[in-house]
Amino acid sequence: MQTRVLTGITTTGTPHLGNYVGAVRPAIAASRRSDVDAFFFMADYHALIKSHDAARIERSRLEIAATWLAAGLDPARVTFYRQSDIPEIPELTWFLTCVASKGMLNRAHAYKAAVDRNAETGEDPDAGVRAGLYMYPVLMAADILAFDAHQVPVGRDQIQHIEMARDLGQRFNHLHGREFFVLPEALIEEQVATLPGLDGRKMSKSYDNTIPLFAGGKKLLRDAIMRIVTDSRSPGEPKDPDNCALFTIFRAFANEAETAAFRRALLDGLGWGEAKLLLYDRIESDLAPLRERYETFMADPAAIEAILQEGARKARAIATPKMAALREALGLRAMTTTRAPLHETATSLKQSRAPRLTSFRDADGHFRFRLFSAEGEELLLSVPFVDPKAAGVMQKRLKSLGATAAVVQTRANDMVLEIDGEVVANTAEYGDEAARDQALLQLREALDQLAVQNDAGPE
Ligand code: TRP
Repeated sequence: MQTRVLTGITTTGTPHLGNYVGAVRPAIAASRRSDVDAFFFMADYHALIKSHDAARIERSRLEIAATWLAAGLDPARVTFYRQSDIPEIPELTWFLTCVASKGMLNRAHAYKAAVDRNAETGEDPDAGVRAGLYMYPVLMAADILAFDAHQVPVGRDQIQHIEMARDLGQRFNHLHGREFFVLPEALIEEQVATLPGLDGRKMSKSYDNTIPLFAGGKKLLRDAIMRIVTDSRSPGEPKDPDNCALFTIFRAFANEAETAAFRRALLDGLGWGEAKLLLYDRIESDLAPLRERYETFMADPAAIEAILQEGARKARAIATPKMAALREALGLRAMTTTRAPLHETATSLKQSRAPRLTSFRDADGHFRFRLFSAEGEELLLSVPFVDPKAAGVMQKRLKSLGATAAVVQTRANDMVLEIDGEVVANTAEYGDEAARDQALLQLREALDQLAVQNDAGPE
């Protein structure tokens, strides 16, 4: 079973070397694993909380998209999109807002820090605090829950947000009596290096000590490396590799042999000037091909736009049917399809329009079942069960899960349904990906309807 790993990048800045080593490079490496279903998105609604500078947000979105693509993100295998292209996210934000406790939001670190700052200066506690900052964790929860992410790779500062997303998902599930949402877990990458900046402190825009990644080309990269702070030891004097930013940065790019050689050279008295040139050469040999792709993308925003539109389409193929199920559960549905049996005809109408499961015995004497859509189309054929009870149990589970918990894996031409990590049923083969994605929508809708029907109580 694939693990769905989702992460967002707030679009307020220009990626620097620390972002590349600490976030972009490891995330792309992880996205290549066959057991990972990766979702990356640009959190441009979150950016609006921090910045009202439209030009800056626009530029940052372009630079971040070009950076991730240049660094090797494969949009065919990863779902790569912009938050603001997914209208289901703000819609879900509202649904979650309505289950969120205000007390929980009062405890969110970013909001609390603002209130504490105000208290220190004797201001009104909420002076200068916008509701966007206050609601930040709910928007982030919607980002995660809309796609049923299992894991969310984040820095330590974001763990609380993931816990709030779990809390909100759990409350919603509980209130509405069904596993609508997968409860996410924070994935903290302990080994990933935080890169030191020019002054030896953590590389960060807020310390103004960053080394640019692609912006400004190799000239600015070289200039920045030349400004890395070192001690005053002169050429010939042994240097301490374990106490210098230069060496730490080198190691983030080099293999073991290169690192050992660089350590040796420093211990043997390599001059800082020469050491910086070696560092520059090492980084540049990694970055040069990436920078070329970056510049190609930056010069062709239409290509990026097309990739993101396709990403939004893929993302919405999941979020749209999910929201339909949520709307239904919340009582927001068309009056013509009222669920509560107002009178007899409504009930019989419902039954004739509902997806259904049917059991049968196959030619080998095994027990199987099929799932048909409301329109009578066959959506799934189960694997054969020797024991009719086992087949029955699986049907029951399927009825109680909904599309959220029943995992549908798409393959080249068809899909399989897994329950608790076990393949339970297959779909037919489809001619192409578009037909398969269409069928996926239909299948999710049927699974959710099946579960809603099930919720409606004993038949
Ligand atoms: N808050 C995250 C940050 O500042 C960005 C973000 C927004 C995010 N939505 C997310 C990260 C959802 C993970 C999942 O780093």
